[in-house]
Amino acid sequence: MTKPRRVLITAALPYANNHPHLGHVAGVYLPADTYNRYLRLKGVETVFICGSDDHGVPVTISAQNENSTPEEVVSRYRGIQEKVFGSLGISFDHYSGTSTCEGHAELSQEFFSKILKRGDIEEKVTQQFFCDPCQRFLPDRYVEGTCPHCGAEGARGDQCDACGKSYEQEELKDPECAVCKGTPQIVPTRHWFFRLDRYEERLEEWLKSCEGWRDNVRNFARGIVREGLPARSITRDLEWGVPVPLEEAKDKVLYVWFDAPIGYISFTREHFVNQGNPDGWKDWWVDPDVELVHFLGKDNIIFHAVIWPAMLMGQGEYHLPTSIPANEYLNFKGEKFSKSRGVGVTAEEILERFDADRVRYYLTAVAPEGKDTSFTWEDFIQRNNDELSDVVGNFAHRMLTFTAKNFDSKVPMNAGDSQLRDEILSVIREAREKWDDSLGRQKFRDALDRVLTLARHGNRLFDQAEPWKSRKEDLDRCGADLAALLEVVHAIGVLLSPFLPSTSEKMLSAFSQCAPEPAEVLKSLGECEVLTAGGELSPPGIVYPRLELEEDQD
Ligand code: 2FM
Ligand code: ZN
Repeated sequence: MTKPRRVLITAALPYANNHPHLGHVAGVYLPADTYNRYLRLKGVETVFICGSDDHGVPVTISAQNENSTPEEVVSRYRGIQEKVFGSLGISFDHYSGTSTCEGHAELSQEFFSKILKRGDIEEKVTQQFFCDPCQRFLPDRYVEGTCPHCGAEGARGDQCDACGKSYEQEELKDPECAVCKGTPQIVPTRHWFFRLDRYEERLEEWLKSCEGWRDNVRNFARGIVREGLPARSITRDLEWGVPVPLEEAKDKVLYVWFDAPIGYISFTREHFVNQGNPDGWKDWWVDPDVELVHFLGKDNIIFHAVIWPAMLMGQGEYHLPTSIPANEYLNFKGEKFSKSRGVGVTAEEILERFDADRVRYYLTAVAPEGKDTSFTWEDFIQRNNDELSDVVGNFAHRMLTFTAKNFDSKVPMNAGDSQLRDEILSVIREAREKWDDSLGRQKFRDALDRVLTLARHGNRLFDQAEPWKSRKEDLDRCGADLAALLEVVHAIGVLLSPFLPSTSEKMLSAFSQCAPEPAEVLKSLGECEVLTAGGELSPPGIVYPRLELEEDQD
């Protein structure tokens, strides 16, 4: 017997000092959720895991600025994240966090110790900034200065966001402590480095064998590996984080990017513990037949397609990612969304005004799959009106009200007698097949567009059938055409479900008495009629009224 297909889906762990903005939602959480819903609809077993990335400097700086503790910051932001994801209908099986997840610190330490034992970690004395007034080292974002390469201001300790180059801390010009603005000194300190060079060949082999990946991800990762991988420092002089499991590193923690991806495993384990099946997680991480799919934004590719697989190889028992659908950025007026710089719209702000499905619709329609795209309010309103209201909403509404008025809200008889029947079935079948192919390849925009095309086609066929005329001349023919066309409305309801769960639910509730469950009926769409003739249709509830652009939406 063939084993059922199983897919473990993860979405990049958001930092626990972030309000999720629409860039994050469009690039990571929404496609991950859509993929999960699609697979479940097809009967694939999935586990969908996420949680907050709690460690690292951004959280400690937020805590300091707010005069609170990292724990308080984490708990507040985690609450915000869970609320936003919940309102958007992002249906994680488990949302945890790296500072609270049971067993996360131990597992991260085990990862470190195993790699160390293999001889793949080396120790070096490095020169780091130290702030006297603050009495602390200044790793990562704790220090800011002028980039030694491009001269941009606000460059951080080891990397410049403007030109993307990385450098040694002491090269940074005009360094300033991000907290007290004092000038730091250079002090030697010991750190541990992951010898990625020892994984180059295996990574190259593996990346070569990976099929079906997006070109941007695979080419980028292969390019980095070919250039040669320097050892990466995986420890920090900080108090907040997972302690380094070595006597001689008592006051140091693991680098946040070392422990964060391990959260994918520790959260899965916690999920199964919560389900009363403490060993259940192993099936998902150790069985090589399980597909592991990581959704993320392009700035995370190097970590997921190079460093994380090397960390997994260093453990030996886990399987490697199957695919890494990384997206480009959704921008706002040409700039990256950023709550702190006041650029763009947060998910909370848009959800105060609009239904989650309207947001999901637009963010999928403009998903930054192959290149950066832009959010604008005009476009948000226009696509909602022209597509969701005028095409989908209008078609469903026309069809259901016409049936209510003329056929007592029952699926008319003899769809098979309609002259449109063959065309209708083939249009549905083609839409379903292309939708399936696109979603299977994680091309969400394209798949959504297939559903819209089906609705446009349905509208055209309705006009062509002219049931308002045939109703008077030939009621049987009118009924047969309508019954065949109702198949289109129902199919749209099913095919929309991964994208717009509540719209789909509302549409399908009209058919609850006369059609099987979506998962049961998916394969039959376009193969034969699936609605029961004479079956009762519930009153049409779904209409998307057109939206107006408000003055403050610019
Ligand atoms: O870039 C980010 O927002 C990181 N917090 C993503 C971490 S993903 C994973 F590895 F945990
Ligand atoms: Zn300082």
